[in-house]
Amino acid sequence: MKPILLLTILLLTACNGLKPLEDPEPESFWHFRLLPENPQDWNGDPEAGLNYLVTGNYIGSGVPVALFADKLGEYQDTLLRREGLAAYVDHTANIFPAANGTEVITGNCFSCHAYTVNDEVFLGLGNPEDDYQKGLGFKAWLLNVTVKAKYKKDSPEREAFGHFGDYYKAISPNIKTNNPVVNPAFRLEEACAMYRNPIDLTYTDKPQFETISYTLAADVPPLWNVRKKSGLYYNGMGRGDFTKLLMQASVLGIADSTAAREAQAQFDDVLAWVAQLEPPEYPYPIDYTLAEKGEILFNDECAKCHGTYGEFPTYPNKLVSTKFIGTDPFYARYFTRVSGLADWYNASWFAQSEPRSSLEPLEGYIAPPLDGVWATAPYFHNGSVPTIASVINSDDRPDHWTKVDGYDQDALGWKISLQKSGRQVYKTDKPGYSNQGHYFGDPLSDMERQAILEYLKTL
Ligand code: HEC
Ligand code: HEC
Repeated sequence: MKPILLLTILLLTACNGLKPLEDPEPESFWHFRLLPENPQDWNGDPEAGLNYLVTGNYIGSGVPVALFADKLGEYQDTLLRREGLAAYVDHTANIFPAANGTEVITGNCFSCHAYTVNDEVFLGLGNPEDDYQKGLGFKAWLLNVTVKAKYKKDSPEREAFGHFGDYYKAISPNIKTNNPVVNPAFRLEEACAMYRNPIDLTYTDKPQFETISYTLAADVPPLWNVRKKSGLYYNGMGRGDFTKLLMQASVLGIADSTAAREAQAQFDDVLAWVAQLEPPEYPYPIDYTLAEKGEILFNDECAKCHGTYGEFPTYPNKLVSTKFIGTDPFYARYFTRVSGLADWYNASWFAQSEPRSSLEPLEGYIAPPLDGVWATAPYFHNGSVPTIASVINSDDRPDHWTKVDGYDQDALGWKISLQKSGRQVYKTDKPGYSNQGHYFGDPLSDMERQAILEYLKTL
C-alpha cells in the first residue's frame, strides 16, 4: 500500500472515531477456533519471580523518590515486608535505582493485579477499584512541572525521570474512561508504544501510529488462569513466548531494548510464580449434594467451552467469535479494526527477537477457565455483569449498577445498588460496555441454574 493511502486511511479512521467499530461483521463467519498449543517453560524459580515483581526495575524509570522523601514513613507495609524505602510504600509500587543509579518510584504489576478477598490482599487477583474516569492530564502536568521545578536540567534526578514524564504526558489524554471498574491497560501500552521505535524501543517524538480518542478498557483478569492458556488476553491475541508478553508494562519507562533484554531474563521466574498461583477458596458454606448435580449440568452445558475441573482438568482454549458469543464486540474489534498496536508489536523487539511473541487479534473472546470464578466479579471482558447468577440468566442483568460493600453469596459476586446516575454507576449503554450476549444459561430452569452456581463455588 502507498504510504499516502495508508495515511489517509489512518486519518479517516481517527476522524470517524467509533465508526469502524460499529460496522456489521464481515460476511465470512466462524463459530469458534481452538487456539494452537503453545507450550511454555514453567520451570523458573517462583520465589525469585515474585521478588523481582516487587523490587525489580522492569518499568525502567519513574519519579525520583526523593521528591516524596518527607511523606515516606507515615505508612508501613505489612504485606511484602520489603527493605529500605520500599518498607514504607504498599504493594502497588516499586522503588529501584534507574539506569543512572538514582532511586525512583513507580507503579508495579500489582497496582492492577492485586485486590482484597476474604479481608486479605491477594496478589494475582484483578483490581477493579482504580478509577480511570478522572483522567491523568492534571496529574501528568503537575508531575512534570514539579520535577522540573525541583531538579535542574542536567541533574541525575531529571535524567532518571527522563522520558517517563514524556510518556506520562502522552498517555494522559488517551485513557480517560467513562465507566468505573474497567482498566485501560492496553491504551496505556498503546500510548507509550506509539512513541517508541519498535526495533530498539528508544523514545521518538513522532507517533508511530494513530489512535482514536475513545478509550477502551477491560476488567482486570486473574493471573492464576495463565497456566491453562495458549493465548493471553480476552481475545487470545497474545501468542508465542509468554515472558515477552508478561513484560509489556515495560514500555511505560524502559530506556531501550538492551534494558528490556535484561528485564526479560527475569521473566522466566515471573512466569513460574504466575504458574503456581492458586485461586482463593470459597469462604462460605457449600451444599455439596447440590454442587454434584450442578457438575453434571455444567459438564453438559458449559464444559465444551470452559473445560472440566477436578483431579484431571481439561481446557479447550476456545476462542468464540463475537457474533456467536454476542457479548459486546467493541473490545475485540478495536484490535482488529482500529488499533495500530498489533502491527507495532509484531514489528518490534518483542516479536522480532528470540524468544518470539506476537499479537494476533481475531474478532472473538476466549471462554476463560472458571477456576476461582466466585472471586473475580465483575464478569465478561468488560466487567458489565456484577454476579454469576446474572451471567447465566440474561433477564436478570442490571443496566445501571453500583458496587456496594459485601459479597453476594446467593448470586455469587458483588452486592450492588440499582441507582441510575452517579460517578460510581456502571452504565451499560456506553459503547463497549453493553451487558448483552452469552445466553447459554437462559434455557435452564431456576433449580438447574442454582445447582450450577453451587458447583461453581467449588472451582
Ligand atoms: C495498568 C494496569 C495493569 C498493569 C500495570 C499490568 N497489567 Fe496485566 N493486565 C491488565 C489488564 C486490564 C489486562 C486484561 C487485558 C486483556 O486481557 O485484554 C491484563 C492482562 C494481563 C495478563 C493476561 C491474562 C490472561 O488471562 O490472558 C497477564 C499475564 C498480565 N496482565 C500480567 C501482568 C504483569 C506480569 C504485569 C507487570 C509487569 C502487568 N500485567 C501489569 C492490567 C494491568
Ligand atoms: C459456546 C461457548 C460457551 C458456552 C457453551 C458457555 N460459555 Fe461461558 N463464556 C464463553 C465466553 C467466550 C465467555 C467470555 C465472554 C466475554 O468476556 O465477553 C464466557 C464467560 C463466562 C463467564 C464469565 C467469566 C469471567 O470471568 O468474566 C462465566 C461465569 C461463564 N461464562 C459461565 C458459563 C456457564 C455456567 C455456562 C453453562 C451454562 C457457560 N458459561 C456456557 C463461552 C461459553
